[in-house]
Amino acid sequence: MNSGALKGRRVVFGVSGGIAAYKALECVRLLTEGEAEVRVVMTPEATRFVAPLSFESLSYHPVAADWLDARGSGETHIQLSEWAEVVVVAPATANTIARLALGLADEVLSGTVLASEAPLVVCPAMNDRMFSHPQTEAHLASLRQRGAVVVEPAIGRLASGKTGIGRLASPERIVAAIGAVLNGRRNLEGLRVVVTAGGTREPLDPVRYVGNFSSGKMGRALAEVAAARGARVSLITTIPGASEEIDEVRVTTAQEMLEAVQRESAQADVLVMAAAVADYRPAEVASSKIRRTSKPLDLRLQPNVDILAAVGRRKGLFRVGFAAETSDVEPQAREKLKAKELDLIVANQVGVNGQGLGSDFNAVTIVSANGLVREVPRLTKWEVAERVWDAIHEARSAGR
Ligand SMILES: Cc1cc2nc3c(=O)[nH]c(=O)nc-3n(C[C@H](O)[C@H](O)[C@H](O)COP(=O)(O)O)c2cc1C
Repeated sequence: MNSGALKGRRVVFGVSGGIAAYKALECVRLLTEGEAEVRVVMTPEATRFVAPLSFESLSYHPVAADWLDARGSGETHIQLSEWAEVVVVAPATANTIARLALGLADEVLSGTVLASEAPLVVCPAMNDRMFSHPQTEAHLASLRQRGAVVVEPAIGRLASGKTGIGRLASPERIVAAIGAVLNGRRNLEGLRVVVTAGGTREPLDPVRYVGNFSSGKMGRALAEVAAARGARVSLITTIPGASEEIDEVRVTTAQEMLEAVQRESAQADVLVMAAAVADYRPAEVASSKIRRTSKPLDLRLQPNVDILAAVGRRKGLFRVGFAAETSDVEPQAREKLKAKELDLIVANQVGVNGQGLGSDFNAVTIVSANGLVREVPRLTKWEVAERVWDAIHEARSAGR
């Protein structure tokens, strides 16, 4: 998460009465850790799942859970609705979603939402059949139509013991979406994005490969930021992980990566090639393990597939390449941008301690075909990914 994205921002956090209410505690903790100002509002039902005291302790403020609480001014919901820069409902029960869609205000959470002009972030959590019920779908569609951001639930084990869709999105995903909304960056909704990550491994024999030091962290950060901004994301990677809400395709060699990119990008709007694809692969792959001897071993390498060239240009697909250079970063990047007919290139200087390959930090130069140039200083890879998506958004908007 971008370290400054939440600092000093005013978040009204609404909790309704679902089994996932306990996960809202972690959301509030992450928000206050990011130095956001948080006020928690609970439905009366929610207080039967988690005590307000826990939320008071984590948000450092009293919780509004009762319209008629003698401690409140009687107008708490109006004050909160005006104070909020964003209103979040997590978990949002089927019942609370129905209230919000219909404009009911019979308890303090729905009253606050109805009175507020702040952007609304709704995080549904419920049984899969309740979630897929046409009435719930209609209520969510109506909220979306009015500009609400819906953080889709995940597929997984539900409270009923069954596996299905309806699990509350992870606290990290919810907080990332709140950060994107607060910073006007929820701008990839409806887009289909493909990101590649990690270094390819080119086999030499059944147990060895030719590879590189890429950790896949830059590509994963790009995929996670795109998801937080509302895109549907496929991550084609040689280094598997478990990022919720991102479709992961595991590959090993450049050839496998090419096939996955061709398949996944056929319907995509943006392709970001952040993987470190091996330029060469062994000319021959031994069918059995190469034995150790006292003699030197010569390896013959041959050029590998060029994935960007093989995928080619397609109208509607915005293609982003990465260039790792040891010197002359910007001129080399411009050359590659032109040679590969890319829409945008992200160049980084490798061989500098504490950034780039394998590190959690990076510093890049972004150049687009339509004239945009951005220097991004040494930042965390998450923050660099934010800047890259800002540049992609700007270049795509200018190109339309
Ligand atoms: C143990 C238990 C777990 C529940 N979990 C959920 C849930 O995850 N999602 C949901 O929509 N409703 C859930 N319900 C039903 C809601 O609690 C019920 O609809 C309630 O009226 C919601 O009130 P609220 O929306 O005002 O908070 C659950 C009920 C019980 C008894």
